[in-house]
Amino acid sequence: MTGTSQAVQSDGGLSHDVPRHVAIIMDGNGRWATARGLPRFEGHRRGVEALRRAVRIAGDVGIDVLTVYAFSSENWKRPQSEIAELMGLLKLFVRRDLAELHRNNVRVRSIGERQTLAPDLRGLIEEAEHLTRANTKMTLVIAFNYGARDELTRAMRQLARSALSGGLDPESITDQTISSVLDAPDLPDPDLIIRTSGEQRLSNFLLWQAAYAEFVFLPVLWPDFDRAHFDEALAAYRNRERRFGGVDREEKLAAVGGAGG
Ligand code: IPE
Ligand code: IPE
Ligand code: MG
Repeated sequence: MTGTSQAVQSDGGLSHDVPRHVAIIMDGNGRWATARGLPRFEGHRRGVEALRRAVRIAGDVGIDVLTVYAFSSENWKRPQSEIAELMGLLKLFVRRDLAELHRNNVRVRSIGERQTLAPDLRGLIEEAEHLTRANTKMTLVIAFNYGARDELTRAMRQLARSALSGGLDPESITDQTISSVLDAPDLPDPDLIIRTSGEQRLSNFLLWQAAYAEFVFLPVLWPDFDRAHFDEALAAYRNRERRFGGVDREEKLAAVGGAGG
């Protein structure tokens, strides 16, 4: 994911009503279930329903790219039974929802390491990407078996291989070269990253791409996430002043002698 955000392209960072790319760390399924005396799986199952809602809302409000963190490269530390449940839910989601996503003109993509995934799961992901590749309304990126350090490690290996084989001059490497070997180099960086459940950390999500993202942390547990929460995050985003290292709006206008005009 690289490229310039819509805000910068349009007017130098001044207006950004609707984020072009929203990324969500869908957290709190386990706590949601535990609070109700239910098995964690029930929280994950309800989490998939919240994901369906989020996709629908993102499409409604005109977001171009929605990335969701579904399984991290560190989530393998969980009990085997929970891992199996999460794999099963992703398969079920793709099988059940693919046709509707396709009908709704949603392009499905995935980021993360896939070589080590079970072949049937990998096959489903590839099928979803292939079927929906020409869709244009919105791109849904599923981060599965994803870790930013793993993504960057794989990218560095690729650059090192190119350098060793003689094609790549190390001095020619720029930040764009690095972006170009990440998992979704054609997509813009996230403008807004939402994390639910009250935790305030990235947990190895999009470390490189999040350089200028706005962060919104919400206390709601993911299975309860609905339109009101999404609106709240979008409203918070609208009120942020994105400067990308520059100066703010008033100062910029004053500097060109255009304040008030
Ligand atoms: C998020 O919910 C889903 C995944 C990480 C797969 P959790 O399972 O992390 O829920 P909590 O954080 O334990 O409540
Ligand atoms: C991050 O949540 C990963 C996903 C939401 C898929 P975790 O629940 O795994 O993160 P930590 O362990 O609280 O940092
Ligand atoms: Mg969690």
